[in-house]
Amino acid sequence: MYDFAIAAGSKTELYRELEGALDALTVDEPDAIANMANAAALLWQYLPDLNWAGFYRSVGGELVLGPFQGRAACIRIPFGKGVCGAAAATLETQLVEDVHAFPGHIACDAASRSELVVPIVSQGTLIGVLDLDSPLPARFDAGDAAGCEMLMRLLGPRLALT
Ligand code: SME
Repeated sequence: MYDFAIAAGSKTELYRELEGALDALTVDEPDAIANMANAAALLWQYLPDLNWAGFYRSVGGELVLGPFQGRAACIRIPFGKGVCGAAAATLETQLVEDVHAFPGHIACDAASRSELVVPIVSQGTLIGVLDLDSPLPARFDAGDAAGCEMLMRLLGPRLALT
């Protein structure tokens, strides 16, 4: 088991500390599933007010459920469908303050009210997406988007090795 001394000061500091922890967890490990699993556990432990944290992988032209923390979730999501599918189709982060107002949102867990989805790209290829859900409306802001994009820039190349 790993213990990290992550003391949440500002949001910027929190993500910088999470980057250090994620680096330590994944630096010597080439297995993509192991690295996604530890990344999901890390974010679940240290980001407050989440009801789901995990990954969908780009497999055969659709998104397929990967390692996560939270309730059992939808397994396959077509590109362009829902928040995750929009991130995969556009390669752009989706910051959704109210999921009920997002056309095509896929309600895997009825408790979800806001969502942040970050595409993971390595060497020009979509590897998958990071999906964070919260039961609080507008839980995520631009600081979370920038922080998670930074984390996925670190993680992306470590998901493409096997
Ligand atoms: N709500 C997502 C589906 C994935 S679950 O939230 C885990 C979406 O609309 O893409």
